[in-house]
Amino acid sequence: MAKKLAVIGAGLMGSGIAQVSAQAGWDVVLRDVTDEALARGKGGIASSFEKFVAKGKLAAAAAEEALGRITTTTDLDAVADADIVVEAVFEKIEVKREIFQALDKLAKDDAVLASNTSAIPITKIAAATSRPERVVGTHFFSPVPMMQLCELVRGYKTSDETLATAREFAESVGKTCVVVNRDVAGFVTTRLISALVVEAAKLYESGVASAEDIDVACKLGFGHAMGPLATADLTGVDILLHATENIYTESQDEKFAPPEIMRRMVDAGDIGRKSGQGFYAH
Ligand SMILES: NC(=O)c1ccc[n+]([C@@H]2O[C@H](COP(=O)([O-])OP(=O)(O)OC[C@H]3O[C@@H](n4cnc5c(N)ncnc54)[C@H](O)[C@@H]3O)[C@@H](O)[C@H]2O)c1
Repeated sequence: MAKKLAVIGAGLMGSGIAQVSAQAGWDVVLRDVTDEALARGKGGIASSFEKFVAKGKLAAAAAEEALGRITTTTDLDAVADADIVVEAVFEKIEVKREIFQALDKLAKDDAVLASNTSAIPITKIAAATSRPERVVGTHFFSPVPMMQLCELVRGYKTSDETLATAREFAESVGKTCVVVNRDVAGFVTTRLISALVVEAAKLYESGVASAEDIDVACKLGFGHAMGPLATADLTGVDILLHATENIYTESQDEKFAPPEIMRRMVDAGDIGRKSGQGFYAH
């Protein structure tokens, strides 16, 4: 019998997680707060499948079957028979805690409750439930169908069994997992990219090198696929500023103190590709 997955939030990440899971044979229920968000999410999945089919990477029948495994709802009660629930709503701790409080009441006793947060300590989310040992971080990367990594994050009380179930799930949808044993703010990946972007922005700000040269140095010197400033433009300077501020607040580690240029770029609306201007003009 196929396993049941519930995904909370049909945005960029939630729909990506629903897509790869349905393709891997999971029965998926995708939940968002409005029908419009659900239609957008499912529409995005359908057009992503179409692209894979057009490129010959997926059979049309398999795509149709996978799409048929995804149902949508605005009703949170739909999580009741899910083996795993993955939350992928806005990166706001109050919103996530409210959802986990509700999931605690609605989900099966043995369900694993996972969050796709990229930086919020899992312990803070798990503490909203009466079963923190069943709560874990499953941090997928964007775009989910293309990116191989899933960062699994242990909260203070996450059990070995929960971590093992989360790993089994992530591997079943084709991902390679790394385990974060203590849920420091930013985990491993967001901490590393934040440190690199902050230092790159400081070098650029102080005129040590141009944005292009900083990025070329990382690409050709270290074999990175993309330089840190181009990455900041792609991810959104605002998103990275927010992540870095959170890590700095929690760790009080000066290396995460965001440079003034990142704040001013965000104030000015130069947040990267989505606004047309960031460290580069797009
Ligand atoms: N975008 C990325 O590159 C990326 C990468 C890794 C992790 N993340 C994390 O994944 C999570 C989701 O990010 P995203 O980029 O998909 O966001 P998004 O803004 O694209 O989607 C969030 C969705 O959650 C929905 N939502 C809000 N409150 C809800 C509720 N109570 N119940 C159900 N749905 C609700 C919204 O309507 C929206 O559709 C965040 O925690 C983010 O930090 C994002």
